[in-house]
Amino acid sequence: MRTNQPQTICLSDYKVPAYLVDQVDLRFELFEDGARVHSVLSVRRNPESSGGDEPLYLHGDSLVLESVALNGTPLAAGDFDDLGDALVVSSVPEAFELQVVTWIEPQNNTRLEGLYKSSGMFCTQCEAEGFRCITFYPDRPDVMARFRTRIEADRDAYPVLLSNGNPVAKGDLEGGRHYVTWEDPFPKPAYLFALVAGDLVEKKDTFTTCSGRSIDLRMYVEPRNAQKCDFALDALKRSMRWDEDVYGREYDLDIFMIVAVDDFNMGAMENKGLNIFNSSCVLASQETATDAAFQRIEAIVAHEYFHNWSGNRVTCRDWFQLSLKEGFTVFRDAQFSADMGSPTVKRIEDATLLRTAQFAEDAGPMAHPVRPASYMEISNFYTLTIYEKGAEVVRMIHNLLGESLFRQGSDLYFQRHDGQAVTTDDFVRAMEDASGRDLSQFRLWYEQAGTPALTVTDEFDEERCVYRLTVRQSVPDTPGQTGKKPQHIPFAVGLLGRDGQPLPLLFSAGSDDAPVERVLELTEREHCFEFHGVSERPVPSLLRGFSAPVRVHYPWTREQLLFLMNHDPDGFNRWDAGQRLAVDVIQSLIVAPEAEVEPRLVDAYRSLLRNTGLDQALVAKMLQLPSEAYLIELSEQADVAAIHRAREAVLSHLATHLRDELLACYHCNSAQGDYQLTPDSVARRSLRNTALGWLLHIGDQQGLVLAQEQLRSADNMTDRLGALRALVNSDFVEERTQALEGFYQAFREDPQVVELWFSVQAASVRAGQLPQITQLLEHEAFDWKNPNKVRSVIGAFASQNLAAFHNPDGSGYAFLATQVCRLDDSNPQIASRLVTPLTRWRKFAPEYRVLMKSALERVRDKDRLSGDVYEVVHKSLAD
Ligand code: BES
Ligand code: ZN
Repeated sequence: MRTNQPQTICLSDYKVPAYLVDQVDLRFELFEDGARVHSVLSVRRNPESSGGDEPLYLHGDSLVLESVALNGTPLAAGDFDDLGDALVVSSVPEAFELQVVTWIEPQNNTRLEGLYKSSGMFCTQCEAEGFRCITFYPDRPDVMARFRTRIEADRDAYPVLLSNGNPVAKGDLEGGRHYVTWEDPFPKPAYLFALVAGDLVEKKDTFTTCSGRSIDLRMYVEPRNAQKCDFALDALKRSMRWDEDVYGREYDLDIFMIVAVDDFNMGAMENKGLNIFNSSCVLASQETATDAAFQRIEAIVAHEYFHNWSGNRVTCRDWFQLSLKEGFTVFRDAQFSADMGSPTVKRIEDATLLRTAQFAEDAGPMAHPVRPASYMEISNFYTLTIYEKGAEVVRMIHNLLGESLFRQGSDLYFQRHDGQAVTTDDFVRAMEDASGRDLSQFRLWYEQAGTPALTVTDEFDEERCVYRLTVRQSVPDTPGQTGKKPQHIPFAVGLLGRDGQPLPLLFSAGSDDAPVERVLELTEREHCFEFHGVSERPVPSLLRGFSAPVRVHYPWTREQLLFLMNHDPDGFNRWDAGQRLAVDVIQSLIVAPEAEVEPRLVDAYRSLLRNTGLDQALVAKMLQLPSEAYLIELSEQADVAAIHRAREAVLSHLATHLRDELLACYHCNSAQGDYQLTPDSVARRSLRNTALGWLLHIGDQQGLVLAQEQLRSADNMTDRLGALRALVNSDFVEERTQALEGFYQAFREDPQVVELWFSVQAASVRAGQLPQITQLLEHEAFDWKNPNKVRSVIGAFASQNLAAFHNPDGSGYAFLATQVCRLDDSNPQIASRLVTPLTRWRKFAPEYRVLMKSALERVRDKDRLSGDVYEVVHKSLAD
């Protein structure tokens, strides 16, 4: 059992730093058996700090201290304390220089925090608290300094030496070594520091900014990846242009670099001028990346680039403010993606993630506000709540203020706080000051955890021609937070008449202000809205465009849902009506497994398959049945086996009855000419692969032939993987085994494709039962040290293969607990993320719950449990 319990850090204890750092001079000597880091800090007392003679406190983690000197005079043992996780110097002058030399071992760093090695190259990850693994430093984001970095390494093994800012000097050293010095003119927190050293090829491009400056764009990758850079470089240029056009933000250094590394805990990191990416989030070619991967890469490149302003130029005061940069930047990248493709589809994808995973988090043991009040391990708080709900909060401000006032607010925010470390409150204040709106009640979105629920009822008064909508809101209790206040919720609605036409929304009889859509602003526990001049009972279209991250309860009939599916002018709500109908049909089969599948659902899907007039990207989305994860989220005491059975039954029923339409859809959406990434061709491939999947789901022989042919002849990974996935999820055991083997042999040299290959199997209930998962862990291509491999097998199994993971014998839970314990020793951040599915044990029916809980208890009782896993496990087991 763990003995030293991690500390809880509270927002209410925030104090300004006692010392500031103006300049950091770093010199890295990189060797095969370790690295020596020479650091010179120019420190001065913070005039804003009240503490008179506070000691200088520098964070450190896994460092060997070689020497420490103050203004050039070595400190004697009694002049400082090396506490292991900190270096404390008690009496220091008003302003001084501190020289520290540390020794670290990047080659043994399996946590992938600080400086580490990934396939032969040195690289760093310093957010949130990784810089302290490199040298002693006040490792908090409100300490902002100018960095100058000299890197020394063997010239042959590490010809490329990179850090933040601009290169200012380079040269040769004795013994075949060389150095490069970099200088970053912008003061920054240490979490934005980066260093890369390796044998990398350079891909070059340029971008001319709106003021006419020419920026060098460079991408650095291992030689074998040289052909996979074009898409990311183009996405980067689109992002730079977009941020100028939409936010007026120009790039500020002369050079912008992107590096791809194979071993990376996260997706990518926005280090100033030197973004570092997980290979799987930046490298792409038509032959190896799916459409979904291309879209993700474009979004992540944009996201990290946008941080240059929302995160770097204006940064966070402390880690409680994380959503200040992440929520805002996710909102910005979502706007960008919407502009680059289909806004409705992007909205559907974001709302699906939110409703499936963020709502679950917000209803679980780790629920926390967008601005948390406390944490133990900050890396546990890079959550869907901080990111996705945080982005929704910014989106609501955007919608409340409107495009133009929102832009004025963001201009004011960037101008007022440039070069500062600030809070979410500063962000909201800039929005208020620019718009004149009062957002005081709106601020509760940052403070209260839990998903607000809206209960809507309606009445139609035929005589007075009045339609009345009553909306009640409540915010559920969450751990440590009860008795919540009503929030300020923008609730977009429309009303549809009998033949599907939008009705004018009149708040009083005879008014001429009659829009067909209104954003109702909910601020009280209960509101009643009266719409006048309504001559027939309308069908309400509620929460259009998912105007707020809330649950809506309204007693829709199937008739009404079918009607909205066909007529709602709001694309998002059209899709949502289809989802609600499918959920309703699946749920009735959970209760009564022998019941008939709603024939009108079959008809609705038939007309979707035949409807070539509708936006095909939207059709492709509408054809996807609600996921098992979403069905679990919607249930009280989830019976996973029953949910799985019911959903599969509906899928089989639909596929059986729509076989001809599916075949027609397959043929009608076959490839035309060269591979293109236009929304239309992406939609065609998506429709076609969905049709193929359904056909193989019911064991259709013709489908089998089509899948095998597609697997052979596809000129792109979307179609190849679509065919493979369809085969893997079929009962054609021999054919799927062959297909898997052939695919592996063809792509075994490509790690990104091998990761897809792993996850297709691990996520499949047919090919991914526990014995097969165990075999994948033994596979030659599996690597415990590589987070992508771990995620693609263990993560995919536990979060996508729900029927197998929730095997009623508890074997899936025991398996996950074992792997979490194993990973906890090498990479606690990965272990802590992986354990998440078990923490939701309260959500499940009793027979599952007991087994999940005991698996969690086994993790809790592990020897030397990391602080990361400790926090998650203890919070989820607490009463
Ligand atoms: N700043 C984060 C990366 C990060 C997260 C570093 C957690 C350290 C700890 C980066 O900007 C980010 O948010 N990356 C996302 C992808 C993005 C498109 C949402 C990621 O890595 O998943
Ligand atoms: Zn980010």
